[in-house]
Order: sequence, then C-alpha cells, then structure tokens
Amino acid sequence: MLKLNYKCADSAVVGESNGLNIQEEFFAYKEKIAKIITDLNGNKDKRGQGLRWMNLGYSEETVWYVKEYAALVENRFENILVLGIGGSALGGLAVTEALLKPYWNFLSPENRNNFPRIFFLDNIDPDSIEGLLNVLDLSKTLVNVITKSGSTAETMSQFMIIKDRLEKELGDDYRKNIVATTDKNIGVLRQIAEQEGYKTFIVPDDVGGRFSVFSAVGLLPFALVGLDIDEIIRGVKDMDLALKNTDINENIAAQNALIHYLLDTKKGKNISVMMPYSSRLRYVSDWYVQLWAESLGKEKDLDGNTVNIGPTPVRAVGATDQHSQIQLYNEGPNNKVINFVRVEEFDTNLEIPKIFEYTGIGYLGGKTVNDLINAEADATRVTLADYNKPTVTITIPKINGYYVAQLLYMLEVQTAIAGALYNVNAFDQPGVEQAKNYTYALMGRVGYEESAHVLHEKMSTV
Ligand code: PA5
Repeated sequence: MLKLNYKCADSAVVGESNGLNIQEEFFAYKEKIAKIITDLNGNKDKRGQGLRWMNLGYSEETVWYVKEYAALVENRFENILVLGIGGSALGGLAVTEALLKPYWNFLSPENRNNFPRIFFLDNIDPDSIEGLLNVLDLSKTLVNVITKSGSTAETMSQFMIIKDRLEKELGDDYRKNIVATTDKNIGVLRQIAEQEGYKTFIVPDDVGGRFSVFSAVGLLPFALVGLDIDEIIRGVKDMDLALKNTDINENIAAQNALIHYLLDTKKGKNISVMMPYSSRLRYVSDWYVQLWAESLGKEKDLDGNTVNIGPTPVRAVGATDQHSQIQLYNEGPNNKVINFVRVEEFDTNLEIPKIFEYTGIGYLGGKTVNDLINAEADATRVTLADYNKPTVTITIPKINGYYVAQLLYMLEVQTAIAGALYNVNAFDQPGVEQAKNYTYALMGRVGYEESAHVLHEKMSTV
C-alpha cells in the first residue's frame, strides 16, 4: 500500500508556529473524522450527494462493457483522440502518462504491442487543434468525445470540427470512428449520439468530472491503449477498503486531509504544492490541482455563510522544479504545505557511467539516476525542514496500475474529507458555471440573450 510520512509537518520538526502537534490533533479530531468517514460511506449511494465515485472500484459491469468494446475495435485504429476538458480529460492524461511506456506516441507499433497512440485535446487553441488534425490520419483515428453535461462549449466545438471532417472523409461510415462518453439521459451529446447512432458509454449519476477517472471516462481510453483496467480497478477497490477505516491513525487520506486543513486554518499554510519525484507522475499534479481547487475553493459553506475559502494548489515536479520553485519554497513566505510523492522502485535501473573520474562530477559515476532522484527528494525535504517549512511525503512502491489507482483514489477521498472539514460542498462548482453561462451568452446561445445584453454592458466597464 501507499505510505504517508507526516513527520515534517510536525511541530517537533518545523516548530510550533509552522507545524502541528500531530498526535494531539489526531486525538482531538478522532471522533469528527470517524463521523466524516462513516457519513461518506453511508451516503455514497444516496442520490444528489455527488458520492457515487466511491462505488467505482466495484463497477464490474462497466469494466466488462469497456473491455468488450476495446476488444471489438482492437487493431482497427492507429490513434485514439480524446476530446474533453477539466475532469473529462485530466484523469485520463494523468493515468496514461504514468502507465504507458514513456514517449508512447513515438514508439513503433511493435513496441506499443500494436496498441494505438493516444492524444488528448483539452483546449481550444485553434493552432494546436489544426496542428494535431494535420498530423493525424482521421480515418485511422477513434475519437472518444467525453462530456458529462454534453454541452461544454470547448469539447463540443472540437467535436463539431472533427465530426465534420470525418464525415467529409468517410461518408456515413464516419460513425464507427466516434465513441461518446456522456450522461445516460440528458445533454446535447446524448441526443446527438442517439440520432446519429454512435457507440456510447455512461458517466454515472452523482459522479462529478474531477471524480470520474475510474468510470468509463478514464477506463475506456485506458483499455483502448492496452492498459490493464482490472489492475487499476483492483487498486481503487483495495484503497477504498483501506480508507473505510474510521480510525484516523490508520487512514492516510484522513490524515493528510486533516494535516492540510489544520495547517491552513491554524498556521496560515493555504497553498498545497503537489510535487512527485517522477516525470511519469507529472500530470497527477495537474489532476490534483483541479481536484483540490474546484472541490475546496468556495464562496459559501454548507450553512450558507459567505466564507470565500479554499487552499490554493500548485503543481510541481521533482527534481525539475528544484531549479525553478524551491528557492521560493525554502526562503519565501512560510505559507505552503508541500506534498512530495516518492517512487520506491522505478522500472529502470539507470547507472551513471564511471567517466570523468578526475573531475568534480566524478562522484556521480557508478551511482544510479534512481539513487540521485530519491537523494534529491530527501535532500529537499530535509532542507525545507531546516527552513521550518512543513511537508508530507507519500511513498508509492512502484508506478503501475495498482498503485497509481491507489494514489488517485486516496487523493479523491482526502479531498472529500477535507471538504467536510472545511464545511463546504466538495462536489459542485458554481463558480465555473457562471463563466460557462457568460461564454454561452457571448457566443449567441439561444436563451442567453438577456445575459448577453448585461454582459456587453459590463464588458465595456471592465
Ligand atoms: O470536475 C468537473 O466537474 C469539471 O471540471 C468538468 O469536468 C468540466 O467542466 C467539463 O465538464 P463536462 O464533462 O460536462 O464537459
């Protein structure tokens, strides 16, 4: 299992004003945490709670349907193109980047075991959309359009461009190149998929985008590129079982949630940096940033009070960002908690040759890059402790489907528990909806005429 080391967030290491007396806090919050965990598990099947992502480790039916479709289209496509944004893209990106062989899209088909390359279009930059379409042979591309609402302007505009080009190239047969993942009943994409006869998968009810990576939203792209989705789901399930433990002393998601919450509310550490020491985990930071920001950044608490709270998440990657951000983290304001993710065993053991022994870099020869990256993680953690800057370290035994799934699922549960501690709804995003509505108004969507009028007036003043 994953391990969490929180010694460097303790006041014994970073001092009273920057750290917590963690054992005392665990004791003080024992009952509150136990109740939060009991409530989460007790409410997960109730409608409207946004908690059904807690069932995804047990979704055998989805796994079965995904595998069936992946087998059906195996060897038929050279590329998978995922269209989606936010929660409909970041989990897929994080997991494929972590689990596929590095530089997957550059490998020969044999080195990819004949599984397709995979691309994520998660933005609407016209240059990059056109650029990607210029390098992909659309006739050999399976397009997985993912949107829970079925109407997100970014995703649907990409979809419209690509559908149009596919149809011009392939005629009626274009439908075989599209698979849609969306709500089972509502939304424009559901309506179009039914009219046009696309293969579809479901984003389950009460599973928000940023908590959807282990639904068909993630599982389908994973299976299409040959990832072992049984192993992934096993990781989710085992972590879920471990995190049902209501004893904070045994529950790492609860521990990290409480540490973050208290460091923010008692010690002013309202920035949470996610810094895996692994390039393969770099998009886990992006995924975490969305999860933490959209879930916890809220204007109102659950009692309707205006609170304007939420810790600010920051993405980083070790060792790269030691040469970019660490100067600030060591010497700048003491307002952060840094989450290191440390990989115990890499797939490759890469030795540094014993050359230039007579120079100042001779000490590196004969060591491994593996030793170096973990030495840098340790050195950075200790240096931050010297500067009284709190950190926690999550250790992941290996980068495989089982442990990466555990890591993501643990962070989801941590977020849900943190939401309860902050007393906010971690599963809505009203602040995002407002900008979406303004965009609809600006783009002339029917029904948004009044908003467009108000907006044009406001725009002339700001
Ligand atoms: O987490 C969320 O709910 C959001 O980030 C959504 O995933 C994002 O806005 C995209 O929405 P949709 O899947 O409806 O296109």
